[in-house]
Amino acid sequence: MDETQYALVTGTSSGLGFEMASFLLEEGYSVIGLSRSGTEIDHPNFIDIICDIRDEAAVEEMFELVGENTDALHLIVLNAGIFEMAPLVETSTNEFNDHLATNVTGPFHILKHGVDFIVEDETHIVTVSSIAAKKGLSNISAYSASKFALNGLIESVRDEWEHLGVRFSTLMPGAIITPIWDEENEDLPRDQMMEIADFMHIFQMVVTSPSHIQFPEITFLHKRGMIK
Ligand SMILES: NC(=O)c1ccc[n+]([C@@H]2O[C@H](COP(=O)([O-])OP(=O)(O)OC[C@H]3O[C@@H](n4cnc5c(N)ncnc54)[C@H](OP(=O)(O)O)[C@@H]3O)[C@@H](O)[C@H]2O)c1
Repeated sequence: MDETQYALVTGTSSGLGFEMASFLLEEGYSVIGLSRSGTEIDHPNFIDIICDIRDEAAVEEMFELVGENTDALHLIVLNAGIFEMAPLVETSTNEFNDHLATNVTGPFHILKHGVDFIVEDETHIVTVSSIAAKKGLSNISAYSASKFALNGLIESVRDEWEHLGVRFSTLMPGAIITPIWDEENEDLPRDQMMEIADFMHIFQMVVTSPSHIQFPEITFLHKRGMIK
């Protein structure tokens, strides 16, 4: 990279966001990372911002801080998300709404208030959705509803911002072993889950691809199929 390019990554305190931010720093990006709890990433080109993406005012404040560092984001990674398994009748309305607030309204806030940082014909927006945005399965109704909605949001904005020449790529992985599974049933078949390195293989391919290419939907999963 000739001149410093900034990437904004949501959900950098653990799992995929932590790995993606670390990779982008190695690639020469300056990375702005968001989470509610902060991250252990320690790098001179990393800016750690505590921000709850469900809170619109917090997102606006966060972009004011971003503006003190740069006026251009070449990469935006919409990654932060929550996942809880439960049968529909055992899912509280609060839990259902929290999936929507985090997985859909959060990215909406980032796009709405981040638009001023978009560089025409250059910015790439990468969304970490899920295979659950394509297929609903038992016990993930709140999560699946939120990820279907997230894909709808992104598809709509892609069309609306076509004139800006923004690239939109959406990753829809199957299960990956990350802390998101920590609270779930230990009997789930971990040997049917991908490793973070498998996810990173695809992410690296997407962000290092030629700048005229976007990946509207990439679905990938372990060859043993979806977790049930
Ligand atoms: N692991 C999988 O099997 C899998 C499969 C398909 C898709 N995905 C998707 O991949 C993404 C990352 O998940 P992961 O597996 O890496 O899980 P993870 O380790 O639990 O990481 C989730 C990240 O999101 C952040 N986050 C959650 N709520 C937030 C909020 N309101 N505001 C700001 N940050 C928030 C968390 O930070 P704080 O808690 O510190 O806020 C954390 O950094 C999610 O969108 C998930 O749906 C995961």
